[in-house]
Amino acid sequence: MSNGIVCVTGGLGFIGSHLIRDLRSRGYSVRVMDNLSPQIHGHLPAVDGSLALDSGVQVTRADLTVTSGLGDFLQGADCLVHLASETGTAQSMYEIAHYNAVNSQGTARLMDWLVNARHSIKKVILASSRSIYGEGAYRCWTCGVVTPLPRTTGALAAGRWEPECPGCLGPLQLIATPEQSSPAPASIYAATKLAQEDLFRIACGSSGIPFGILRFQNVYGEGQSLRNPYTGILSIFSTRIRRGLVLPIFEDGLESRDFVFVGDVVKAVRLCLEAQTVVGQTFNVGSGIPTSVLDVATMLIQVFKGRSVTEVTGQYRLGDIRHCYADIAALRSATGFEPEVGLEAGLARFATWVASQPLPEDGLDQANQVLMEKGLMK
Ligand SMILES: NC(=O)c1ccc[n+]([C@@H]2O[C@H](COP(=O)([O-])OP(=O)(O)OC[C@H]3O[C@@H](n4cnc5c(N)ncnc54)[C@H](O)[C@@H]3O)[C@@H](O)[C@H]2O)c1
Ligand SMILES: [Zn+2]
Repeated sequence: MSNGIVCVTGGLGFIGSHLIRDLRSRGYSVRVMDNLSPQIHGHLPAVDGSLALDSGVQVTRADLTVTSGLGDFLQGADCLVHLASETGTAQSMYEIAHYNAVNSQGTARLMDWLVNARHSIKKVILASSRSIYGEGAYRCWTCGVVTPLPRTTGALAAGRWEPECPGCLGPLQLIATPEQSSPAPASIYAATKLAQEDLFRIACGSSGIPFGILRFQNVYGEGQSLRNPYTGILSIFSTRIRRGLVLPIFEDGLESRDFVFVGDVVKAVRLCLEAQTVVGQTFNVGSGIPTSVLDVATMLIQVFKGRSVTEVTGQYRLGDIRHCYADIAALRSATGFEPEVGLEAGLARFATWVASQPLPEDGLDQANQVLMEKGLMK
């Protein structure tokens, strides 16, 4: 299907910009719909002009939730990749209607068009998130593989950071989270991502449109928003390192995430677009390796050769999970996917890019202040 037309919502964002370049380099034409959200792009949008200058990329500035131009955007295209979303987990906890409008309703409008219009779209891909799992998967030596309940405020207040077995309340061992793990969203953002998945599964399933749902882990790399204080721990830390500020680490620092390089995520999206075998599956996309927040902060200080130090604060945010890393066996066997860029090499590439960017204001203290005032951070 190379040389086909791929429509990308949210295509001027972090992952979208990389995806568009990759698709162009393989001969696809690309149509983008993006509203250039000021939280991501600033009030005077600073987007990569090279995308707009490429005659194979057609950009429509429009808000998915209200535009009447979905038909013009999608008509005659071969594939759709749906990336447009609000993405701040903590922010979603107090902008509930807005997150629902953009993420759930925006997706619903796309589905409405797809099931009601005559069109040529042969594959749709949704960017979902590991956040739909809530806590990752664990093994209890008595009860077997379990998904723990969200940690209670009482447990967090007492510094009992590790989740306990929902069956016997015993200790747990972290394991890779497979796609069959029961969804248990712990934030409004996660609930809207799960809603997006359900809309895709039901609408595309019932109308016979081949689809793929990809649950990204923590994506990082060149081009991620340095401005948005609500997302991207590596962006937030990199600004503080450049300013010589302390890196505050929540809980005891041993909470972990699966950091996956943006180039690997783009590869997973393209493989799923192209694989004939992907017709209605859900896949994890990650590196398959957990890294503690304290370790990633220390590695980042090293690659920047910064003077900052880490400080484990014991503070915590409601809605944060303790651990999650991806089981990527299903994606590997369906598409041959293999992550290529390890964390050390990826962080070095990220740091080189960050150093070439203007130094943003440090928005972390202010963002945390808002969370404290709303009782969402202690
Ligand atoms: N970056 C990650 O770590 C990560 C992890 C898991 C899932 N995801 C998912 O991947 C997708 C892309 O993430 P990203 O990191 O590139 O985010 P991003 O914020 O950089 O890009 C999102 C783009 O969507 C646009 N947008 C927002 N609201 C819109 C609307 N109403 N109409 C049209 N466009 C709109 C924004 O202007 C932005 O350009 C999202 O769906 C996100 O939930 C990202
Ligand atoms: Zn148990």
